[in-house]
Order: sequence, then structure tokens, then C-alpha cells
Amino acid sequence: MNQLVSVTWHDNAVHVLDQRLLPHQEVVNAYTTVAGVADSIRSMQVRGAPAIGCTAAYGMALVAVHTAADSASTVIPALRAAQQVLDASRPTAVNLFWATARMLAHAMDNVHLPIAAFRAAMLTEAQTIFAEDLAMCQAIGRHGEPLIPARGRVLTHCNAGGLATAGYGTALGPIYRAHELGRAVHVYVDETRPYLQGARLTAFELQRGGVPLTLITDNMAAYFMGKGLVDCVIVGADRIAANGDVANKIGTYGLAVLAHAHGIPMYVAAPTSTIDLRIADGSMIPIEERSSDEVTMIQGIRIAPAGVIAAHPAFDVTPARYISGIICEKGVIRAPYGPGLAAMC
Ligand code: MRU
Repeated sequence: MNQLVSVTWHDNAVHVLDQRLLPHQEVVNAYTTVAGVADSIRSMQVRGAPAIGCTAAYGMALVAVHTAADSASTVIPALRAAQQVLDASRPTAVNLFWATARMLAHAMDNVHLPIAAFRAAMLTEAQTIFAEDLAMCQAIGRHGEPLIPARGRVLTHCNAGGLATAGYGTALGPIYRAHELGRAVHVYVDETRPYLQGARLTAFELQRGGVPLTLITDNMAAYFMGKGLVDCVIVGADRIAANGDVANKIGTYGLAVLAHAHGIPMYVAAPTSTIDLRIADGSMIPIEERSSDEVTMIQGIRIAPAGVIAAHPAFDVTPARYISGIICEKGVIRAPYGPGLAAMC
């Protein structure tokens, strides 16, 4: 499948595909500092829970690769500082914190190595995080594909595809798998106001992958469900609490309630790196508040009267009772989610 890659490492730099410019321009920005990498996450050049985790891991690797220190132990304080900077870039997706913590733990485990070997070990770990994410997405695709009925019409929200991950995607994984198997599948793509990840990114990558799609505005979902045109909903996740409550792009909760009212299965697809067993339920998941301007303006053009302030919670929490199954790389978890999630992690 001809997919764009959201983040890569080469020439001792982190290269980020600027998703703000898609689908019209494919621009890649190179970063050699932690501040630059953190800014690429904060400013949404790279977005999607697994992709920001991979990017943050490469950000941690930058510190080791570019250090002038002659012993690994003296790099540890700089890595701790980098972790703080990267962790402050966005609050909701746990993959970010998971990735920086894993990189720091790897540094501690390898602190005895000579500096050259330490540098190599840190870069290898970031590359491993990336490779594992791609493999997890492909496994999610294999586990989720049988959940899509014959000639299935799937509704998705936001972008949980290759652009939001190391490749292939979480919510789009089962769809790509069905398409690869030659099955007829059609995707209703929610536009996903206010940032338009659906219209700009999901429509773009599905079209590029040859998967049939229809773009709809978010407020059309009930209409299509009511007409019997949606067989299942599949979305991604930014953080899954221990009880199965799911934080995902604002609007996901509404879709889940709609799916429930229409008797349509609602699946969440996410790798185990998105599960946060330290959080008992969704009420404790931090929800990012983004700029009012992203709501009052579309691509720089003001649509609301001057002076109007808009609310902009970027995520919402779907209670576990509305979720039919959580598809992870190890299989499909069904309610009661507590034991199922604990067993998978
Ligand atoms: O604000 P974004 O674009 O980073 O939000 C992304 C989502 O909500 C995705 O659904 C989620 O991160 C899963 S991506 C595989």
C-alpha cells in the first residue's frame, strides 16, 4: 500500500511530515532539537496518539545522538529534561508519556555502555518503538477485519490511519485488511470538526489506498445510521482507562451514543501502548483544550463574528458501556473490560 510516513529518522534528524498542509502539499520538516520535536507535536504537524509516541521517542534519541558528553551517565539529566519538554507538548494521548518513559528506562538499563554504544542503543530503541507500532497496527487489522460484515459500511471519525501511527493505522487497519483481502468495504468518513482530520487526512489516505469512501459532516452520522447505511463504527483512541472508558477525538462520544441507539456495533481499535491501567476511569483522563481560533476560523478564514470565543475541548470520553469491543494487537477485548484490559497489558 502506497502510504505516507508521518515520521522518519535519517541524517541524525527527526523528519516530520507536516500534516497541517495535507492533502494539498507534502512538506517534510527536519528537527535536530528536542524543542523543535516538541513543537512539531504541539502544533499538530504530527498528530495521532501512536505517531506522537514514535516522534517523542525519536526526540529522546536526538539527545543521545547529539550529546557531547563522554559518558552515558552524564546524558541522563538531559534525557530527563527532554522527557519533561516532550511530555508537556500534548496532554491526552498516553502513547507520548509511554514512549518517553520507555526511552528513559532504556537509557538507565544501558547507562554502563561506552558513549558510542549508548547512542546506538537509544536510536535502536526509538526505531524499535516505531517498528513495533507498525506491527501492532497490522495485527489490529488482522483481528478487526472479521468484525466488518460482508459488504460492510464502516463509519470512522478523525484520522486513525497510517498518518496517525507508524503506518497502516488502528481504526483503518481492519478496513485496509478487508480491502487487501478483496472484500467490498465502504467507509463513511466523518469530517471531524474543528480540525478536519477526517476530511483532510482520512479521506486522503483512503483515496490513496483505493478504498471507497463517502465524506460526511459530523452532524450527518445519525441520518446515515437511521437509514440503515452504517454496519459498524470503528474509531481509534488516545487513552483507554482501566475500566474501558475511551478518550478519543471530540465527537466520538456522540457517535457511540448514536450507534447504541441504532443497535450498531461501536469498536475502538488501539495498541496496548494506548491502555493506561493507572487511570481507573475516563473521568481522570486529562482533556486537551485547544485554541478558540481553531473553531472560529477554518484554515485562516474567520467564520464566526469577531470577538466570539469558542470552546474547544479536543477530546471526549466514551463510557465503556457504549463500546462493543476494543481491538488491540493481541485480539478483541469484550466487556467486562477491566479484566480483559489487565490481561492484555
Ligand atoms: O488531535 P489528534 O488529531 O491528535 O487526535 C487524534 C485522534 O483522536 C485519533 O483518533 C487517536 O489519536 C488515535 S490515532 C491512531
